[in-house]
Amino acid sequence: MELKTTPEVGGMGHSIKRKEDPRFIRGKGTYVDDVQLPGMLYLDIVRSPHAHAKIVKIDSTKAMAVKGVLAVITGKDLEKYNLHWMPTLMSDTQMVLPVEKVMYQAQEVAAVLATTRYAAADGAAAVEVQYDPLPVVVDPRKALEPGAPVLRTDKKDKKDNHIWHWEWGDKGATDRAFGEAAVTVKEDIYLPRIHVASIETCGCIAHFDKIDGKLTVWMTTQAPHAIRTVFALVAGHVGLEEHKIRIISPDIGGGFGGKVPVYPGYVIAVAASVLTGKPVKWIEDRMENLQADSFARDYHITAELAAKKDGTLTALRIKTLADHGYTDAAANPSKFPAGLFHVCTGSYDLKAAHVEVDGAYTNKPPGGIAYRCSFRVTEAVHTIERMVDLMAHQLNIDPAEFRMKNFIKPEQFPYKSALGWEYDSGNYGGALKKAMDMIGYADLRREQAEKRKRGQLMGIGISSFTEIVGAGPSKHFDILGLKMFDSCEIRVHPTGKAIARFGTKSQGQGHETTYAQILAEELGIPAKDIQVEEGDTDTAPYGLGTYASRSTPVAGAAAAVAARKVRDKARKIAAYLLEAAEDDLVWEPGKFSVKGAPNKSKTIQDIAFAAYTNHPQGMEAGLEAVSYYDPPNLTYPFGSYICVVDVDSGTGEVKVRRFVAIDDCGNIINPMIVQGQVHGGLTMGLAPALFEEISYDEIGNIRGGSFIDYLLPTAVETPKWETGHTVTPSPHHPLGAKGVGESATVGAPAAIANAVVDALWHLGVRHIDIPITPAKVWKLLRQNGVTE
Ligand code: CDP
Repeated sequence: MELKTTPEVGGMGHSIKRKEDPRFIRGKGTYVDDVQLPGMLYLDIVRSPHAHAKIVKIDSTKAMAVKGVLAVITGKDLEKYNLHWMPTLMSDTQMVLPVEKVMYQAQEVAAVLATTRYAAADGAAAVEVQYDPLPVVVDPRKALEPGAPVLRTDKKDKKDNHIWHWEWGDKGATDRAFGEAAVTVKEDIYLPRIHVASIETCGCIAHFDKIDGKLTVWMTTQAPHAIRTVFALVAGHVGLEEHKIRIISPDIGGGFGGKVPVYPGYVIAVAASVLTGKPVKWIEDRMENLQADSFARDYHITAELAAKKDGTLTALRIKTLADHGYTDAAANPSKFPAGLFHVCTGSYDLKAAHVEVDGAYTNKPPGGIAYRCSFRVTEAVHTIERMVDLMAHQLNIDPAEFRMKNFIKPEQFPYKSALGWEYDSGNYGGALKKAMDMIGYADLRREQAEKRKRGQLMGIGISSFTEIVGAGPSKHFDILGLKMFDSCEIRVHPTGKAIARFGTKSQGQGHETTYAQILAEELGIPAKDIQVEEGDTDTAPYGLGTYASRSTPVAGAAAAVAARKVRDKARKIAAYLLEAAEDDLVWEPGKFSVKGAPNKSKTIQDIAFAAYTNHPQGMEAGLEAVSYYDPPNLTYPFGSYICVVDVDSGTGEVKVRRFVAIDDCGNIINPMIVQGQVHGGLTMGLAPALFEEISYDEIGNIRGGSFIDYLLPTAVETPKWETGHTVTPSPHHPLGAKGVGESATVGAPAAIANAVVDALWHLGVRHIDIPITPAKVWKLLRQNGVTE
């Protein structure tokens, strides 16, 4: 990409250092738990040991005797204000505190308010709850069997555990294509329940000021404006109207989708503050975070792929069962209960496809949030990339050659997929070729063949994924009716410095830097002179927040559009100052000059000063603009990843020896930040591929509820990532940019899984569900007589 600005200005394409890092690396960030208010009270939560049980009695006598404990709050207390249930983002309902029964292990049962954190914890331990256990349903397939206990007894007309059925695509055409296919492959693929496990857990401080009736909540949320509206809708009837609510998202230590939902703890803290008039702090501990916050994935998929004899892919058919836990609290756009799963035709030119998804209730915490992924895209990518690999192996065609043959070709863009998406741009072959060259693909295949002769297990896996980010065009995308636009408001000060505020909220992605770079690119004001603010609903323009890699595609575009509005006004002022016609002015980043007379010019700083001191008569003073950007389409970043694994034939341990990742996110704002995003994303892709899983025993006890058995990869397990990129600009984004934050998490697991299956294919192994643990591999090796 051609650089339009100097390093001093630091527009797009410059790897300038992150503005936020000096405070982070010196421990000077302000996270929710850093906020201390005078007279603050503390909340701790009593949680259920049972996965499904009636609450017979809650006895708070002993808890109230603990020094410092002020109150024990139960569902019955909240019921008086009709606050014991709340809506989920998918228009289901979720308990704040239960009145009748608990629905999953670790569910909130009561809350203890105290003068110190320790007193609150001691009080919570002293609350005595009597339960009457009920039958537990953990398997969504069993949940849908006739005669299964109906879990949502609160829904009077609900007679089973089926939440919804959703299907997409042309069933007739797909079935016909399968009928005519020369080759088909079919596989059951399970994507297990996983947890985002961000460094910072969730929490808030609710401060209701009884004098002015205003509620201020500092909270770990990725979507502060939407939360404000939800709070107003839920609690407007008790006086909390939207202008009396201020949500502040301070620094956030990782969100990855886990900080989109409203958790009961937030609501209880607000209720406690409204009742006491004191600030109330609630911060989850690590186990609470891992056991009770919303989870991702939990998709049971059956996929079929059809091809002609020569290997041309023709059709895809998928049936999925989605385990949503006890409530559908997924953070999906309303129209799409299975998120954007129907991007599952991926990077391939498939003429027919049909997808069915059914949602089921089980005795588990809410599922269905994204884990660093754009609404179920990881599930879609994993499925198509596994299936394509399976077909290639089945046909005995090299998986790279097979992909090259079936890719959507560059000249086919904009490309309408069989499931109705319009892919904006792509060059899948270019990215795969670059990855193959970088890793030395042909040599690796030779090495693999030689090793196989010696009984050594080496595998090479490819994932050539397509993402879909930037939700989204308001025609199709809303959350609870709120259209998914995003916003930027810029104000240029008289001295040419500026402040810009956004409806998004960074959780570590570096927005303070990259948004400033976009404005620097468009206005020529140095990035260091632009202060970027997000996350305060009293000051920032309304936006839907940061998740699903939507910041660059939506708010980044809003920044460019707002900057161009500022530039339009600046042009008028420059014309006035230079006594020239507007059409006679030429713009280069940072200044207007008169055509043919480059010495006659005004810098953006001169113009800003004039906007407040010497603006044309009849023009309003000031230099500012706002944009609420409604994207015309989503953006479709993509990439090709190649992974090399060595499998220990004695222990089944998988070692990722090399991993090359070529990403394409269109025009890049800050290459260093993009590389950082890819590194982090790859590590979060390695994690579910090899280590992470939350599962439950038959009575709903959680496995994986602490870091002892929920295995996050450390530096020791993480390979050296080899990264590169191609650039295929988005034709509709004002800057030609696409999102990137989630690409690597979306694309990496399939590359790793494909590599392991590739290593074991000759032994008859066709598929292994992630996480691919040594135990799973060892079992397969033993079945196949490789080890004892
Ligand atoms: O919504 P979120 O910030 O998580 O995702 P994103 O839009 O993909 O951006 C992640 C980070 O990468 C941001 O700081 C972006 O500005 C930066 N980025 C970039 O520099 N160039 C791109 N083409 C895309 C993202």
